[in-house]
Amino acid sequence: MQSLSKSLSGVLFCLFLSAPAVAAAAVTSDNPLIKRTITPDNTCGGAKKYMCDPNASPGGACCSVSNYCGSTADYCGSGCQPLYGSCFGPSVPATKIGNLYVVAGLGSFTNNQTFTFSGSALPDGLQISTDTIKDTPDSYVHVKALATVAGGYLQLKVPGGQKKSPLQTAEVTTVASNIKYASVRTTAILGAAAGTCNGMFFYFNDTQEMDIEFLSDPQSKSNPVDGSTPMHYTNQAVDGNRTHETYATWPSPADATSAAHEYRIDWIKGKTIYYLDGVLQKTFTTNVPTVPGTWIWNNWANGDPGWTGNPPATDNVFKISKIVMYYNTSST
Ligand SMILES: *[C@@H]1O[C@H](CO)[C@@H](O)[C@H](O)[C@H]1NC(C)=O
Ligand SMILES: *[C@@H]1O[C@H](CO)[C@@H](O)[C@H](O)[C@H]1NC(C)=O
Ligand SMILES: *[C@@H]1O[C@H](CO)[C@@H](O)[C@H](O)[C@H]1NC(C)=O
Repeated sequence: MQSLSKSLSGVLFCLFLSAPAVAAAAVTSDNPLIKRTITPDNTCGGAKKYMCDPNASPGGACCSVSNYCGSTADYCGSGCQPLYGSCFGPSVPATKIGNLYVVAGLGSFTNNQTFTFSGSALPDGLQISTDTIKDTPDSYVHVKALATVAGGYLQLKVPGGQKKSPLQTAEVTTVASNIKYASVRTTAILGAAAGTCNGMFFYFNDTQEMDIEFLSDPQSKSNPVDGSTPMHYTNQAVDGNRTHETYATWPSPADATSAAHEYRIDWIKGKTIYYLDGVLQKTFTTNVPTVPGTWIWNNWANGDPGWTGNPPATDNVFKISKIVMYYNTSST
């Protein structure tokens, strides 16, 4: 209890310290940084006007219509009160200062890369994978023709009705393979047909990797028994022992397979931060990658009941409308 109140007063202290800088920009009596106190009891707004903790992990950043802090659609969606916390919406773009792209509260980056998908050509800076991944029970092969640009989307397809290994799957990666620290925001409609994994992730090797993944099969043993299909957030174990990975699930948008939402990873030294629609979901400080690598988007299946489940009966298409990346590069 003592250490909790200590850390809370630490937060307040920092807020008041930073308040004058903010005040210089735009002061209104409603400015949350000036007038609000971080909630001591998980309530917000209402008579006491407490503000939800913007850095609460897990959850707690949004003020619901009924004046409680939380981080799911019930809190951050319809009725969410922006005066007292975050609400679902697109992430705020970086600010360009000199030659740097500054992401508020995170850091600065030298590269700004935005991918959109008009026409039919893959934009410069992305490339299609064609490798085969050995896996069990099914291996899978990334097929060039299954990664297409059409209708305003990058479409990554796992065709339905596949029976034999290797299963045909789709993947694109950044051409850059020296990304070290980044804020990467992917706007996408996830694939509906049960039996694939939609991945948006950083990769150097199996022990230097962080992932946002969505398993469309509610029966997957990695999904909860309540039949939901949450987002899976993982920093893979740096020592190669799967039981040591840093992992959490968090509710996916109810309409994730029919409407576009923004999925984001921020990666800085010692920290990976997972966001959904601009709202912080989880912060991890263990198993954080330390070497440069590549960003990857894929849609794949391995027939494993513990992961993707049986390959889809009908086509599963992961549709990406936009990728915004702020990043630094490094040779080590
Ligand atoms: C990043 O690049 C995109 C596309 O070129 C541009 O629209 C956007 O304004 C840039 N962002 C910043 C912060 O300069
Ligand atoms: C991955 O790369 C890191 C950094 O080079 C290395 O220490 C680690 O052993 C590699 N892991 C595997 C599984 O190859
Ligand atoms: C993985 O870690 C667990 C828990 O720390 C340990 O019990 C197990 O022996 C480890 N497995 C290997 C192969 O080292």
